[in-house]
Amino acid sequence: MTNAQSPPAGGGGPPVLISEETIRDRVVDLASQISRDYRGQGEVVLVGVLKGAFVLLADLSRRLTIPRRIEFIALSSYETGSVSGEVRLEMDLRHRVEGKHVLIVEDIVDSGQTLHYLIELLQARSPASIRTCALVRKLSRAKLEVQVDYLGFDIPDVWVVGYGLDYAEQHRTLPYIGVLEPEEQSGE
Ligand code: IMP
Ligand code: MG
Repeated sequence: MTNAQSPPAGGGGPPVLISEETIRDRVVDLASQISRDYRGQGEVVLVGVLKGAFVLLADLSRRLTIPRRIEFIALSSYETGSVSGEVRLEMDLRHRVEGKHVLIVEDIVDSGQTLHYLIELLQARSPASIRTCALVRKLSRAKLEVQVDYLGFDIPDVWVVGYGLDYAEQHRTLPYIGVLEPEEQSGE
């Protein structure tokens, strides 16, 4: 998965790292695994981390066969572009999660800071359980040991966009995961 391919025919977008079809197949797998694991345990609260997780959350949640509820939380760890910073809570959940099974749905785990912060934040609210699901993880960059229970793909340390992921709010709605070349990240 290190060699990016050309974008789909007709598109001039970023080169493909993970195709639309590969993502779809993986999401189907994850959804059946999650449905199996939570079967008979009552409602699961899916906590989507805005904005990046909105596409995965939409696709994943519609393939689950267990009772579920959708909630959103917004965090920021990067101002714009790719410079790392502190994690900030921008928008909290609207409902209590005490006694609930919580599944955090994230777009990407890079340093692990964001997910670590979120687990601590929600753990303090006494849920019945907390698990995590992430579309991609940059293995080489992992600084914090954060457990990802349901992982889409491990990827190399490149800047990826599409399927919810952005660079300075660009490319979120690409149907595939593409790689942004370093020269396209300049100008910030
Ligand atoms: P972490 O706290 O370092 O794990 O960073 C996680 C957050 O950084 C994600 O939720 C994204 O918002 C952002 N991020 C890190 N790497 C990428 C990338 O390659 N593309 C898009 N966003 C990224
Ligand atoms: Mg995110």
